[in-house]
Amino acid sequence: MPHYHKLGQIPSKRHIQFRKPDGNLYSEQLVSTEGFSADYSIVYHCHPPTLVTGIDDPVSIAPDIAIQKNMQNRSFQGFKVKSTDNYLDSRVPVLVNDDCYVILAAPTNWNSRQSAVGSRQLKKNSDKIPKTKDSYFFKNSDGHEMIFVHEGEGVLKTMYGNLPFEYGDHLIIPRGIIYQLEFKTDQNRLFIVESFSPIRFPKRYVNRFGQLLEHAPFYERDIRKPIKLETHDEIGDFIVMVKKQDQIYPYHYASHPFDVVGWDGYHFPYALSIHDFEPLTGRIHQPPPIHQTFEANNFVTCAFVPRLYDYHPLAIPVPYNHSNVDSDEVLYYVDGEFMSRKHVERGQITLHPIGIPHGPHPGTVEKGIGQKETRELAVMVDTFRPLKITEQALAIEDKGYYKSWVE
Ligand SMILES: [Fe+2]
Repeated sequence: MPHYHKLGQIPSKRHIQFRKPDGNLYSEQLVSTEGFSADYSIVYHCHPPTLVTGIDDPVSIAPDIAIQKNMQNRSFQGFKVKSTDNYLDSRVPVLVNDDCYVILAAPTNWNSRQSAVGSRQLKKNSDKIPKTKDSYFFKNSDGHEMIFVHEGEGVLKTMYGNLPFEYGDHLIIPRGIIYQLEFKTDQNRLFIVESFSPIRFPKRYVNRFGQLLEHAPFYERDIRKPIKLETHDEIGDFIVMVKKQDQIYPYHYASHPFDVVGWDGYHFPYALSIHDFEPLTGRIHQPPPIHQTFEANNFVTCAFVPRLYDYHPLAIPVPYNHSNVDSDEVLYYVDGEFMSRKHVERGQITLHPIGIPHGPHPGTVEKGIGQKETRELAVMVDTFRPLKITEQALAIEDKGYYKSWVE
């Protein structure tokens, strides 16, 4: 969790009168987590954030599970997920459990004027779906999100301000933050982890005051916070698509969700670029935890970045065979060559589940000996409970992958 931040105008103390130029009060909102026991922010709106004028019928976006119990190494071609002109439609869950969903998305735009949510559901429930005339907002009340930007750039817009993003960024959006993504072009590829518990820095990276320690692979200067507060003092019909319990509830509000004049606290979205992750290296092969970026309940994420190889004279840089006794291992290949695999595509996902070992592909161990560096770039998600496989994942699966270790 990043440290204290503030933007805009705030009064000198909490919970006191804070008036607009016309003499009326601003509307204070406490955004608190874990009840009142964890990070929070205090936000000042032009209008109360409670002005609901209507709620349209909810629509289910629950993942369709194809394989409840997986016991096979698998691979999926993530770039085969079709691009779609609406952000919510574009989100395709591929691997899911009760702790997190792994989602792929290729939005060409935030919103098309015709559609609202879930192309799958649009077909099933087309008469029930409200058609948005203007752009909607999205609020995930189920999960905290890590959006890894594989392709694309733009601006994450929230009531806490704007956060520009680009290739390689992890955008961390805590649960309940209303947002929009403004894309610069229609070429966007996102790898999203939706977490049902807060996404935090690994405990061993921070001191007892919460500061990132010297041995951590990134530092506070690498954490980018919202930089520009845009105050939309507007009254109208604003649609916030609220996700809760795998349903989308189209909420109509009378005031613009980003009508904030100021805020302060510890609860806000932030960005960490994979290109700012400083790799740790050693004389012999270093284990995956040195690549860790974030942790949540029952899963961790890692970043594999360009780095020097192990430098012991007899070092074997390619990783050993490995048994996941108690974690499903998801690797999302971003860019560069991968030393342990014979052939990988950008956007490919491998899943190596609890219960069986996996290891380097034939020939890669000898090939790696003597090499000085790798240019690989990948994001890993290790879940401590098994992942289920969705119908959409099966549609992009490389069916023969589980036999790929046999020459
Ligand atoms: Fe592994």
